[in-house]
Amino acid sequence: MRKILTGLLFLGLIPVANAQHVASIVGPNKEVDPFHYSVVKRGNFKQAAVSSAHPLASMVGAAIMKKGGNAFDAAIATQLVLAVVFPNAGNLGGGGFLLAYKTNGELIGIDYREAAPEKASRDMYLDKNGNAQLNLSQNGHLASGIPGTVAGLFATHAYAKLPFAELIQPAIDIAAKGFVLTEKEAASISSVKDGIARFSTQPTAFYKPTRWKVGDTLIQKELAHTLERIQQEGAMGFYGGKTADLIVAEMERGRGIISHADLKNYTAKLREPIVFNYRGHEIISFAPPSSGGILLAQMMKMVEKYPMTKMGFQTPSSVQLMIEAERRAFADRAEHMGDPDFWKVPVNTLISDTYLQQRMNDYSPDKAGNSKEVNAGVIKESEETTHLSVVDAAGNMVAVTTTLNGSYGSKVVVGGAGFLLNNEMDDFSVKPGVPNMFGAVGGEANAIVPGKRMLSSMTPTLVLKNKKPYIVIGTPGGTTIPTSVYQALINVIDFNKNLGDAIDAPKFHHQWLPDEVMIETGFDNKTKEALQKMGYHLKDRSSIGRTDGIRILPNKIRETAADKRGDDSVAGY
Ligand code: DON
Repeated sequence: MRKILTGLLFLGLIPVANAQHVASIVGPNKEVDPFHYSVVKRGNFKQAAVSSAHPLASMVGAAIMKKGGNAFDAAIATQLVLAVVFPNAGNLGGGGFLLAYKTNGELIGIDYREAAPEKASRDMYLDKNGNAQLNLSQNGHLASGIPGTVAGLFATHAYAKLPFAELIQPAIDIAAKGFVLTEKEAASISSVKDGIARFSTQPTAFYKPTRWKVGDTLIQKELAHTLERIQQEGAMGFYGGKTADLIVAEMERGRGIISHADLKNYTAKLREPIVFNYRGHEIISFAPPSSGGILLAQMMKMVEKYPMTKMGFQTPSSVQLMIEAERRAFADRAEHMGDPDFWKVPVNTLISDTYLQQRMNDYSPDKAGNSKEVNAGVIKESEETTHLSVVDAAGNMVAVTTTLNGSYGSKVVVGGAGFLLNNEMDDFSVKPGVPNMFGAVGGEANAIVPGKRMLSSMTPTLVLKNKKPYIVIGTPGGTTIPTSVYQALINVIDFNKNLGDAIDAPKFHHQWLPDEVMIETGFDNKTKEALQKMGYHLKDRSSIGRTDGIRILPNKIRETAADKRGDDSVAGY
């Protein structure tokens, strides 16, 4: 029983270029086979394409479009497969954001971010001396917000064409029958299996006494049954009935606080996207409760008036300018951003030209700024407001970033239900000024309140050029998300790189506090030395983000790129 996804034929899924890379998985008559697949980094496709964190997820998404689904169908099916084959971040127990452009010009933003349970409270992670207990916001049952993903998938389905039951079937099959692990995935599960065993009801599918190896099969029967309940009962197959009972029972075992009422009352919300112009391109990204879209707009608008192309790709001058924009944007994040249903985020001011020009007044091109002197802007305005990319044959674009927060979230697998719960509560500011797991600080705007959604950095992003769909892009990486998207877009727009090279280029990251620049392995040494001379503290980092994107070229070819940093993989036809 190897070829389990009958019906998902890859008839004619032939790439236009890079044939040597793709022939092994997207040849004619080839089925999605969870026991034989390979990672494909780049592909140029004529009609429809997916780029995601795992080959099986991308292949299923492409096959769904080949069967008549649109980009929304593909995004649903791809996410569901990621929930099976990429348990680090693909999820049922987490949340995310979907951003879409429809060929009729409509923009859609679906917020299915986790929310704080009713029993949550502002100081729930402080001990009696007022010290933050980050072990509780980062691991175990108390770390979870109310999961949003399943509500998000059904909200997305309003724009899809195929029955939900069909879109979820590949995920059910792969969970029930299993799939072979890649080397990276085997290493990743091995590194966390003891942590999962510590927090979860035993046994879980992820535990075995020996290390997982490449080629091992991971079977997830309980997860398959949970997916079947969703297939049969819709969203209430997760937020009600047996799955909800299992989640609440798991909470009770581990002193968690998510209740039946929390689950039943959870809804996905539509959000108006952040839209701005950058050198003739219309850039669309996600609004609060993600900080991503505002940060992206701020960083790009702060550098727009400078001659980036002339300054050159990753030269000391262009990198320094980009870092100083990052510093200022992240200072604003800490002060001004939170869930807009609980905190007035001054969106219009934060992304206005006047405000952003004035933010760069103290920028000096020859020396490092100082985060002690660069604070959040003073705003008087009182009113306001694992990533995957899909393009279908019609040109609809869908960008989804979804997460459990940390790798494998809270490490709690819901007993009997087979999926991991998020540790998204750590994205709240558990105490003013105390850094979360990504080093981000915050205050009142992002304090814990029941029902409130924790501030995110996720930045699913779309670009239109000459009013036509051009780029879909996004990445994981906590606070490095907006800076990775910013740099990838600038690499394309200012430095004329193709999308794959723009994504694979080494990244750098400054987030105001701590006052240091993370520099990814492979970054130009001369530029590093020049930055150090200007006074920057550099901190080496092995890998930043896993950016997956698609660019539509003037001849309509879907230039599809998966980040070299993971098992990320493309598929299409
Ligand atoms: O919403 C956020 O900003 C974070 N919870 C994202 C976490 C993430 O990207 C983890 N991946 N490295």
